[in-house]
Amino acid sequence: MFFGLREREARSKPEVPSGGKPRLKRKKKETTVNKASLKTAPIGVFDSGVGGLTVVREIVRQLPDENIVYFGDTARVPYGSKSKNTIIRFSEQIIRFLRTKQVKAIVIACNTASALALDAVRHEFDVPIMGVVIPGARAAVEATRRKKVGVVGTDATVRSGVYTRVIQGMNPQIEVTEKACPLFVPLVEEGFKEHVVTKEIIEHYLKSMRDGDIDAMILGCTHYPLIRSKIREYMGDGITIVNPAYETAMDLKILLEKRELANDRSGMHSHYEFYVSDAAEKFRCFANTVMPFDVPETNVVNIEEY
Ligand code: DGL
Repeated sequence: MFFGLREREARSKPEVPSGGKPRLKRKKKETTVNKASLKTAPIGVFDSGVGGLTVVREIVRQLPDENIVYFGDTARVPYGSKSKNTIIRFSEQIIRFLRTKQVKAIVIACNTASALALDAVRHEFDVPIMGVVIPGARAAVEATRRKKVGVVGTDATVRSGVYTRVIQGMNPQIEVTEKACPLFVPLVEEGFKEHVVTKEIIEHYLKSMRDGDIDAMILGCTHYPLIRSKIREYMGDGITIVNPAYETAMDLKILLEKRELANDRSGMHSHYEFYVSDAAEKFRCFANTVMPFDVPETNVVNIEEY
């Protein structure tokens, strides 16, 4: 069921906080012991709802030995129309919840939360936290030949301008066009992938991008990879479509290896737990259409308590 790991060369720095205190000699043994037990600890992944499953799917594919705890904030989705302060507060609560599951690293699968909350939370918690923006941006920078990149995402992500900043930080000559496509999220959630209205809305949002001269486009929202084939059909073959989930899983692998946190107990069954803030059964049904295995159980958490 799982695909093999794709080998790759060491890449640029993963999206994790730098630094770390110099270790005292007498502490060394303790640190080593902790690391050994941390290796089997799960990775926490969270999103505003179901969309982050596209990232979990990639992590499962590329890191099949890792255990995962997923939280989908189904009670408070969408994040894409909310303010920065609210998204930071939601992210902090979810990270506090994931910490109760002894996670060894956290992936913010949500583009909106990566765009608006990553900087705040990564300095607040002592667990490595990475987002999806830098991996996605880097893939687009590598893909574009004409130095023209398009980014589609939620209102909040596009308003933040984070993709433009990160891409131009990597290569100032690249021109970035961002476009908010808020209706893609409900279309995906309602299972409207094959519906004619999806085709029309794709055309409505993406016509100017298709008529322009971008040659790489980032799907800067967790849900969009789920209608990727429709977007690809409309945009044509001349454009590289970047799904940040793929690059994020690769960066996570590098992060875990660098910190000696990768689970090397291969052969054991990996364990996946799913939590949501509401509508567990709806989530579970959706998850079963995305994940390469049966999602047997989803638990509801009162996230406001964290
Ligand atoms: N998960 C969000 C993102 O990737 C999309 C859904 C939402 O607006 O919450 O930006």
